[in-house]
Amino acid sequence: MTESINRKLPTWDEYYKNEKIEKMPWYNENLDLDLEDELNAMHLNNGIFLDLGTGPGTQAMELAKKGFDVIGSDISETVIKRNKIMYENKYPNLEFIVDNILDSNFKAVLI
Ligand SMILES: C[S@@+](CC[C@H](N)C(=O)[O-])C[C@H]1O[C@@H](n2cnc3c(N)ncnc32)[C@H](O)[C@@H]1O
Repeated sequence: MTESINRKLPTWDEYYKNEKIEKMPWYNENLDLDLEDELNAMHLNNGIFLDLGTGPGTQAMELAKKGFDVIGSDISETVIKRNKIMYENKYPNLEFIVDNILDSNFKAVLI
């Protein structure tokens, strides 16, 4: 009992280092259906997306495929490194960045 209470949870980076990404519960190689419905309802097919906590980057990649300019950020260096290798060369409108949303390096831009 005490042992399970004191068990240390892995960091996100440790998790991505040690587990198979395709088996993670949130892994979805297709665009989220609610997001797709919303984009269709709003007739949105271009613009800029910031995908905070992008994880496996599949949502960012699907949005880039549709023609959006996309930045996917995540606290895990491991997953961002993987995403860069897998997707950045294929989609020039897609960029992955390591960033902690609780102490972000993104600057607010007023347009
Ligand atoms: C449940 S996963 C969802 C991943 C992705 N949005 C998806 O739907 O496939 C949550 C993600 O948030 C990231 N994350 C957690 N805390 C974060 C933080 N403070 N800054 C940036 N990313 C964070 C994790 O590394 C993880 O990839």
